[in-house]
Amino acid sequence: MTSPLSSRPDTLTEAACVVLGEPSPAAKVDWSRRFAAAWADGRLTVIGQAQPPDRPSRPPSPQLRPPRDMPKRKPGGAEGRIAFIHAIAHIELNAIDLAWDIVARFTDENMPRAFFDDWVRVARDEAEHFDLLNRRLQDLDAAYGDHPAHDGLWEAAETTADDLLARLALVPMVLEARGLDTTPVAVRRFRAGGDDATATILERIGNEEIPHVAAGVRWFRFLCERRNIDPVATFHALTRRNFNGRLKPPFNDVARTRAGFGEEFYRPLSA
Ligand SMILES: [Fe+2]
Ligand SMILES: [Fe+2]
Repeated sequence: MTSPLSSRPDTLTEAACVVLGEPSPAAKVDWSRRFAAAWADGRLTVIGQAQPPDRPSRPPSPQLRPPRDMPKRKPGGAEGRIAFIHAIAHIELNAIDLAWDIVARFTDENMPRAFFDDWVRVARDEAEHFDLLNRRLQDLDAAYGDHPAHDGLWEAAETTADDLLARLALVPMVLEARGLDTTPVAVRRFRAGGDDATATILERIGNEEIPHVAAGVRWFRFLCERRNIDPVATFHALTRRNFNGRLKPPFNDVARTRAGFGEEFYRPLSA
């Protein structure tokens, strides 16, 4: 594996920028595993400061389109299943970059070390999620890059690049929490269709996303307390400002509760 950047970054934020600057998905996974292990076992200890790129490097395919230009997904059939797995793999690849971006971008907030521990673990989980789905695509004689993909997640990152509070509200608390609602439906659909291998992967991902939403809620509350503002009212205001449309029910209240995400946050915004 080759990378134009140093493979031995001295600081966590430099490590984050290595992943963000790496175009190959397989290498993003590999770097994420290595840097997360180095942070966990103390070979990497300094947070440091680094300037993350506005956009992460990505492979030449898939072609990225605005969400509104995406072809309508045809449900059912082998093609529909593969297109669905491809779409989730794309979300997980974005999630790797989003986690490293949150590590590198907001160091001016002087967040506690536990904040960095959480997002490094999230990055490592997202790398495993992408890898599982990418391997599943290969089992089905498909590959990541075969289908067009939308750029909505990075648009969300750009919208919230200047404020950690807005980033936490939009990415883990709106978008990742939405995954908690939709994943069980997809698991049932794949099981009913006889694709247990994909269902098992999606089920694991659904469970592992709960601590990601929990980290979002925890650090959102922490920042609100530090800024002396009301967390629920602030979440409502930020979601109305930055999220185009209302939150779509039904909600997975069980998973959201396990993430410490009370319904007073999301229920009043439901469409
Ligand atoms: Fe994930
Ligand atoms: Fe996640």
